[in-house]
Amino acid sequence: MTTKDNLLLYLKKNKNSWISGEYLSQELLVSRAAVNKHIRKLRDHGYQISSSTKKGYCFYGVKDIFIAAEIQEDLDTRIFGKQEIIYFDEVDSTNAQARLMAAQGAPEGTLVLAEKQISGKGRKGRTWFSPPGYGIYASLILRPAMPPSDVPGITLITAIAAAESLSALTKLPVKIKWPNDILVNKNKLAGILTEISTDMDAVDYIIVGIGLNVNTPSEAFPEHVKSIATSVFAESGMTLSRVKLLRAFLRQYEACYIQFKREGFAGLRRRWKNMTDIIGKNVTIEEIDTTRAGRVVDVDNDGTLVLRDDTGRMHRIFSGDVIL
Ligand code: BTN
Repeated sequence: MTTKDNLLLYLKKNKNSWISGEYLSQELLVSRAAVNKHIRKLRDHGYQISSSTKKGYCFYGVKDIFIAAEIQEDLDTRIFGKQEIIYFDEVDSTNAQARLMAAQGAPEGTLVLAEKQISGKGRKGRTWFSPPGYGIYASLILRPAMPPSDVPGITLITAIAAAESLSALTKLPVKIKWPNDILVNKNKLAGILTEISTDMDAVDYIIVGIGLNVNTPSEAFPEHVKSIATSVFAESGMTLSRVKLLRAFLRQYEACYIQFKREGFAGLRRRWKNMTDIIGKNVTIEEIDTTRAGRVVDVDNDGTLVLRDDTGRMHRIFSGDVIL
């Protein structure tokens, strides 16, 4: 443990009470000037610490920003968030960075996070609005031993983990829209972008990118998405800790991922269905080369959407956009 980490432990143990610089320098075996230097660094990182020449230092919290050590504290996962956490104040796209890192051999579980994305990527070449201060923009590197045909299931289990953790922390009516949208009251609160590098028969790596609109005020959304986007804050008026939500998501994600590798989507299908209201709805589905209308009958054991068209014919849809 470094002096800075030790200092933080002392401060946290004495949250909201003053500790003298003299005491800290004796306990940590460093000069008072060194204590002061580390305090300044901690403040730069977002730790809220008051100082007084008479009383010393008082730690009273940490801003809701992505500090690796804070994310990892109380995080009982083994893979996700427990490997390296790469953080950017500003980046083009966390998915793009995660891809570069994965191509250079970064291990499974690596988490790439940004406070702001300049060109956050959505599906189908769309952009993902990624302003600082409000959202979670995260990408995970996965290296499962699986054929490429199993990869669509990864998007579905990511949606389960996102929807369940959001629902548990906010009590909002969170719904999954197949395959990758997280909606509240029909508006989009989160999206998932899964990218893959693969051989014919085995996946090399998968990048799972997730964007969550957490504390974004409605008026902050750009005009073109204002009527279709939402956030936890816009729906509930509540400011939710992004770090807390990220931890909850990582925990839930790891459990889903382990189960998915063991049992396939079939093992998680019931949970997915619990979080959706798409079944039984009349929808239009935009596939790569065709648009199909019909009623959603089910989501199958392999994650495909089963649709009955107006003539009664059944279709199994592997990928597409659902228009409600
Ligand atoms: C969609 O619904 O179209 C998918 C949106 C995915 C956005 C996230 S934000 C973090 C990660 N990095 C990106 O560039 N995109 C994903």
